[in-house]
Amino acid sequence: FVIRRILTIESTCDETAAAVINERLEVLGATVATQHELHERFTGVVPEIASRAHVERILPVIDESLRQAGITLAEIDAVAVANTPGLAGSLLVGLSAAKALSVALDVPLLAINHLQAHIYACQMSASENVFPCVGLIVSGGHTSLYRCDDPLDFTLLGATIDDAAGEAFDKVASMLGLGYPGGPAIEKAAQAGDPKAYRLPRAMLNGEGGLDFSFSGLKTAVRYKIAPPGNVEFNQLSLEANEVANLAASFQEAVVDVLARKAKKALKESKLTTLCVGGGVAANAALRQRLTSDAKAAGHTLHIAPPSLCTDNAVMGAIAIERLKGGMTESLELDIVPGPVR
Ligand code: KG4
Ligand code: ZN
Repeated sequence: FVIRRILTIESTCDETAAAVINERLEVLGATVATQHELHERFTGVVPEIASRAHVERILPVIDESLRQAGITLAEIDAVAVANTPGLAGSLLVGLSAAKALSVALDVPLLAINHLQAHIYACQMSASENVFPCVGLIVSGGHTSLYRCDDPLDFTLLGATIDDAAGEAFDKVASMLGLGYPGGPAIEKAAQAGDPKAYRLPRAMLNGEGGLDFSFSGLKTAVRYKIAPPGNVEFNQLSLEANEVANLAASFQEAVVDVLARKAKKALKESKLTTLCVGGGVAANAALRQRLTSDAKAAGHTLHIAPPSLCTDNAVMGAIAIERLKGGMTESLELDIVPGPVR
């Protein structure tokens, strides 16, 4: 069986995406329709709104990817879909579309683990094989470290015990009145701030917690810098613009510091020398800079996908080609597994 072109579908959260990729991992077409504008006023993803938007967008997004690739549906040899983890209603839209196409075109159906795909985004932008590696996934829903022996063999080393790093960015941005999604907003505000202005906690370092993470205390610490507990004006933001910038910068520095130190620890303990970083927060310039300088100092190899492949996309779903090569196709019984998945 020759795979010439695979169609990949992503609808786990609030991005509707599709891509057409060939067996040499060349991207022939790729489209992402973001829903940020629909969720902005709620400062977080509203699941029901997300599912409805996926229903409206999924076919146009697939069509656009095929158009870019210059092919018709009949020229697709396999269809792959992210079926875990994510929001149930959102996942169902992608899975239904993929199953329908698989039946109608009589081509294999493949499953994509969205977290593993975030790491595979590094492979999509690297010229050499990135495996084996330590994989750090930092997204809106997850903050996890994996030992990735090959694209089909991931072992969890540690994960957040409360908030994900991206979730903390989103909540802190909301507290600071910076808008949604919070990551890019904090990054922008932080450029004018002093990362040493506020002392903020870095949880679970110094031996405790192994390779797990915790960000909820950091979030609370930021809250108390805005207004102390018990203050009647707790919900009213009264910070000057420079204080907002300083808090954004100090918060960002705390997250970056924890992520970099845990990644270093994972590399040391696993005796691996390559680090691959994926997920929306990996688009953050301060994190990229810190990881780059740490890698240089330690002499290990670092792969971070370009920002457009860090946030949710379907190109990273090319990991499904590895499953197809391994004969791991799915039946129509394939279901969604929303989570919790670390
Ligand atoms: O991977 P992703 O697109 O979706 C999930 O699978 O969750 O990640 C989205 C998360 C959001 O929390 C967003 O605020 C964060 O990634 N993010 C960033 C940046 N861009 C997106 N966080 C920090 N800095 C950024 N530049
Ligand atoms: Zn994601």
